[in-house]
Amino acid sequence: MDIVIIGSGNVAIVFIRLISRTNHRLRAVVCRNPDSLSGVTLPTGLLVRDFGDDIVPADLYIAALSDQFLPELKDHIRLHQGIIVHTAGSVSKEVLKTILPRYGVIYPLQSLRKELDFVPEIPLLVDGSDPLVLDTVRFFAREISEQVTIAGDEIRSRYHLAAVSSANFINYLLILVYDYCEKEKLDADMLLPLLKETINRLEHVSPAEVQTGPAIRNDSDTISRHLDSLKHYPRLKKLYEHFTELISEQFRHKSKDKTD
Ligand SMILES: NC(=O)c1ccc[n+]([C@@H]2O[C@H](COP(=O)([O-])OP(=O)(O)OC[C@H]3O[C@@H](n4cnc5c(N)ncnc54)[C@H](OP(=O)(O)O)[C@@H]3O)[C@@H](O)[C@H]2O)c1
Repeated sequence: MDIVIIGSGNVAIVFIRLISRTNHRLRAVVCRNPDSLSGVTLPTGLLVRDFGDDIVPADLYIAALSDQFLPELKDHIRLHQGIIVHTAGSVSKEVLKTILPRYGVIYPLQSLRKELDFVPEIPLLVDGSDPLVLDTVRFFAREISEQVTIAGDEIRSRYHLAAVSSANFINYLLILVYDYCEKEKLDADMLLPLLKETINRLEHVSPAEVQTGPAIRNDSDTISRHLDSLKHYPRLKKLYEHFTELISEQFRHKSKDKTD
């Protein structure tokens, strides 16, 4: 297929890298700021175009654009053939229907950063405006990912919520913990084996089976000492209190059995 990428941000650059490994032909990148492509190795012959320029004909247009700009895209681009998809978790595919009659979604359920050369495993959720479009989108998606799942707007949005609530929130918690470690002169890297184990074991057990810590043991002495030590870290203290309250409430019946 001939493919055009619209956008030059994180997802656009990672998709350029992934498509370069396939037999599909990347024809052009459409973006408002070609400088954002500097430092990126682009396939030879790839054209860089602005939104107002004549658009290169293609079979698939991948609009990897900010959620806010997607509804405005129709006012900035004229396409005549092919399929257009966006890559957003919580934007309906219908936002594309006035651009081309054949449209869909390829949503990467992964955190993508253009600075990183390493491309992680990327589950893709795909959707299409009709069964033939969906077939084409799914066929393409399978060439850049081993994990492709069909999901309409509603299911994709729920996955997006689950992704935000897990990865984004865990990362914010770690920002606070790393700050605590730095100020208390602790080596945060010492936590890495524990953090890796916490994630890795989810391949074998559910999180509810392996919850540990003072909250589930109802260990009020340790909890009070921790909260006292957190008086100069109000954000971490707030989350510690919330988590402790929620964990003890949910696992009240189990607290007597837990020893670790
Ligand atoms: N990154 C991820 O981990 C990830 C994962 C899954 C899904 N997504 C979704 O994929 C989409 C793209 O995400 P991203 O991380 O690639 O975002 P990003 O790095 O912020 O890139 C957004 C792109 O949209 C362009 N853009 C924004 N406003 C514009 C405007 N008014 N006119 C023209 N271009 C405009 C930006 O151009 P400039 O560079 O010139 O500002 C940039 O090329 C979003 O819907 C996001 O939710 C992202």
